[in-house]
Amino acid sequence: MDKYVINGGRKLYGEVEISGAKNAAVAIIPAALMVDGVCRIENIPQISDTDMLLTILSEMGAKVRMLNRTTVEIDCTSVRKDGAPFELMRKIRASYYLIGAMLGRFGSAKTTMPGGCNFGVRPIDQHIKGMTALGAHVEVKGGFVCADCPEQGLTGAKIYLDKVSVGATMNIMLAATTAKGKTTIENAAREPHIVDLANFLNSMGADVRGAGTDTIKIYGVPKLKSGSYSIIPDQIEAGTYMAAVAAAGGEVTIKNVIPKHLDCISAKLREMGVEIEEYADSVVVRRNGKLQRANVKTQPYPGFPTDMQPQISTVLCMAEGTSVVTEGVWDNRYKYISELKKMGAEVQVDGKTAVIEGVPMLTGAPVVACDLRAGAAVVIAGLAASGTTVVEDVVYIERGYENLVGKLTAIGADIVCVSEPDDPGISDTPAIV
Ligand code: EPU
Repeated sequence: MDKYVINGGRKLYGEVEISGAKNAAVAIIPAALMVDGVCRIENIPQISDTDMLLTILSEMGAKVRMLNRTTVEIDCTSVRKDGAPFELMRKIRASYYLIGAMLGRFGSAKTTMPGGCNFGVRPIDQHIKGMTALGAHVEVKGGFVCADCPEQGLTGAKIYLDKVSVGATMNIMLAATTAKGKTTIENAAREPHIVDLANFLNSMGADVRGAGTDTIKIYGVPKLKSGSYSIIPDQIEAGTYMAAVAAAGGEVTIKNVIPKHLDCISAKLREMGVEIEEYADSVVVRRNGKLQRANVKTQPYPGFPTDMQPQISTVLCMAEGTSVVTEGVWDNRYKYISELKKMGAEVQVDGKTAVIEGVPMLTGAPVVACDLRAGAAVVIAGLAASGTTVVEDVVYIERGYENLVGKLTAIGADIVCVSEPDDPGISDTPAIV
């Protein structure tokens, strides 16, 4: 039961190095299951979500070896389809990628249904629609997803996603990689991690074309072979540090980023009065003056990312004037607002819209991290606030941010992680992010 104690009001200065992208890593690690051989993956973020997926693969018989802090070698030569540890799978949303990967490798899959959710209904109907179009028989029963291929295996098909879905696009891509013939995914998601998964699969011998556009074509290959791949930097981790500097003030160089992936975040922060300089693989973020109001609407890439909505809304809580934030992806992603209100924020939420009246200063308070990005938001609020903020349930934050406390300390934040003995009645692994 760790908590963060933040003494706010210090400007941030220095350099911060961004880790590998969580939402790419959580698809690429399950994809390693499809490789009948050894694959080496570099730039793996050290977060509990990737740890958990590596443990799941080991329990299924893969040989998993960390070569250094961020490079892992996974040998799935003797992996078994029946070794899946369901209790671990249930704890992580991204275990749904094992459906596509196992179907592709074994011709059948049994995984847990990703249950519990923090920001509204999170269906997987588009994943199932895609697998079914490829010829799989998919059944959801008793909290499990069971999928089987026909005797001749999966066959390529044309699939139109009714809703732009990151998870469905990647899962169908996985299953289609070794299906016979050509699969076309239309209305596909275009996030940088979709392109990263396609590049990973291609470097292992797959033939995936068009990732990054709304039409992805996958030409099935019989099997994937050994290879080596480096994961892209995390767009949302970078954006979170950009928002932290915007909120607390100061000047920080954010290194190991792809500035193009940050375009929508940079544009919005500039509108709010934050200075941003872009270099080949870094951005410098500077904020000394007052923050200006702005309106934000989250959308699938290349729109403003929903995974940055809590962080940018927190910055807007301290901007001059009234801002309107519209959540365009999830039904209920404003739970953290009640935490920000404890710190003096003035926000009215009505369905998917939050109307924020900026206040000159937030004040420290005891708050809770409701989920991963909500947790990042209250940390940002604590950095900018006067006084002390105590953030509970930081286990959510550690699912997706590598060494947040260390990285913030290095740029001048006063933040420490305090451990308290676990309450035996409470599980420290939260459901689903
Ligand atoms: N949707 C459906 N049916 C489906 C799948 C999705 O209706 O079969 C709907 C969802 O309810 C939602 C929208 O489509 O309204 C988008 O969902 P998507 O499938 O894109 O989300 P996801 O794959 O479950 C990933 C990230 C999330 C991120 C979203 C959107 C992972 C593990 N998770 O979730 O990341 O918010 O894409 O970009 O990659 C986070 O990192 O904090 C996080 C929550």
